[in-house]
Amino acid sequence: MPHADSAYIPSGLSKAQFWEHVYGSLAALLDGQRSWVTNLANASSLIYNSLLAYEPYFGAGERQVNWCGFYIESSLFPGPRITSTAEPEANKNTSRLLLGPFCGMPACQLINTTPGKARGVCADAFLKRETLLVPEVDAYPGHIACDSASKSEIVCPLIVRTSDGKDVPVGVLDLDCVALSGFDETDKVGLEKITALVVQACDW
Ligand code: SME
Repeated sequence: MPHADSAYIPSGLSKAQFWEHVYGSLAALLDGQRSWVTNLANASSLIYNSLLAYEPYFGAGERQVNWCGFYIESSLFPGPRITSTAEPEANKNTSRLLLGPFCGMPACQLINTTPGKARGVCADAFLKRETLLVPEVDAYPGHIACDSASKSEIVCPLIVRTSDGKDVPVGVLDLDCVALSGFDETDKVGLEKITALVVQACDW
């Protein structure tokens, strides 16, 4: 099957069935590959394009999803990461997420996750290690607006279980929608299963 066909969505699916379908497609797509860059690139594309193809809720209408991607803990990236004109106060005591693979319009590169200085939905989900459903982004204290078209958001943390049983957050999956209340509990359940799959499919 051509890879692009992974994002084909049959008609008539409930939203829970939709997420089950995306889960199965993603498991097949990630099989045999352990690079997190490669797998997150395909995961963001699959989720984004599957949502756009899912007409009942997210297609090209009023509830369109306009961004889907990952922010990853900066130490996991190769090369120099802490010198940036975009963040002049950067220093070795600052922890941050860096923009990873995504689909949608260009977005902010750095998100400060230093406790006490952290701001935004992604940083909060990362630090709390829990999914955040934001029905109205303009009402969320500290929300970082990368695109004024985004009205609601869901962010799921990526948590790696180490061999000695510790849970370590490595990043987040972030989705934006042009409608208020674009995501709900069914999306949360579906995306949490998907992030667990992505985490297990990669070497970190
Ligand atoms: N809104 C996010 C920033 C990332 S963009 O939405 C792509 C936040 O508040 O963390």
